Amino acid sequence: MGMKKLIDALAQGSSLTEKQWEELIAGQTEELAEYAAEKARSIREKIYGKTVFTRGLIEFTNYCKNDCLYCGIRRSNSNAERYRLSEEEILDCCKQGYELGFRTFVLQGGEDGYFTDDRITDIIKKIKAKYPDCALTLSIGEKEKESYQRFFNAGADRYLLRHETADEAHYNTLHPEELSLRHRMDCLWNLKEIGYQVGCGFMVGSPGQTVGTLAKDMKFIEELQPQMVGIGPFVPHHETPFAKETAGTVKQTLYLLSLLRLLKPNLLLPATTALGTIDPRGREKGILAGANVVMPNLSPTTVRKKYELYDNKICTGDEAAECRNCLNNRMQSIGYVLVIDRGDPRER
Ligand code: 5AD
Ligand code: FES
Repeated sequence: MGMKKLIDALAQGSSLTEKQWEELIAGQTEELAEYAAEKARSIREKIYGKTVFTRGLIEFTNYCKNDCLYCGIRRSNSNAERYRLSEEEILDCCKQGYELGFRTFVLQGGEDGYFTDDRITDIIKKIKAKYPDCALTLSIGEKEKESYQRFFNAGADRYLLRHETADEAHYNTLHPEELSLRHRMDCLWNLKEIGYQVGCGFMVGSPGQTVGTLAKDMKFIEELQPQMVGIGPFVPHHETPFAKETAGTVKQTLYLLSLLRLLKPNLLLPATTALGTIDPRGREKGILAGANVVMPNLSPTTVRKKYELYDNKICTGDEAAECRNCLNNRMQSIGYVLVIDRGDPRER
């Protein structure tokens, strides 16, 4: 089958084999990417129109017990200045965010033992009591199913846990021995079973990634049927073992965003900060490739620079209000509009 035929088949809801995914990903050209992007935009606009959902990201701790080889806040990075936000600071972020029109808050952090299930549950309850019209997303890593259930019962709506790669050998080159793909995937299935809206995802261009591993990512996503998928380019961090590796590319990230939109039309798909970091118009390009979410930061500027997963992260000096404005303008410049909305998946 020709490449455009494969894209047509995907757009019509056919399932591609792993081999076909490999061909499609390996066959990327300017022309094919534009073909995919046009179809992705049109499907996205049928479901979501020109609206872009926004999430207020609160990076509440950069302590982490893990040692992922790509990540700037890995435990071995003794040069990272560690911080935790207090419950009061977190609630302040929500207040500011609410006033700016955010109706989803994302609590993201390293795997930090200080934040026990009791503490997390307490924070969830307080946020949901104050902002019952907002969705709450957690992004705090691998936990026991019982913990996920407690957070859900306390009011959490969504959970982000990127699978990072669906290829076991590749997974093991990105992570220390104590982490496993099996456990990661178990977590994702548990989250789904509990009833969360779930997000998985991966970095584009991570060291060791191939069309083969990417094809497995696409098949895994097809199987899991997550409501959200987060992808952004791998960007090296100078204090990690991957300091000298090359970053992922804008073009491949955009192409994969389009393919993801075609794979799952109503997906909540962010144009990520990492994409905005490697290209000044990366997020606009991401939206035009089929993404429909942006996730600016609500953390206090005093800690922004410290949550550095990769080098040169954007927006580390900007107040939440500035980012909100900036994104309003950016979206407007391409004919899209940021909306005040929880931003749940729409059925088509
Ligand atoms: N480059 C790009 N993305 C990264 N992440 C972690 N480190 C990097 C990096 N160096 C991503 C991971 C993680 C998410 C929170 O950030 O995919 O799941
Ligand atoms: Fe933060 Fe543009 S989004 S300054």
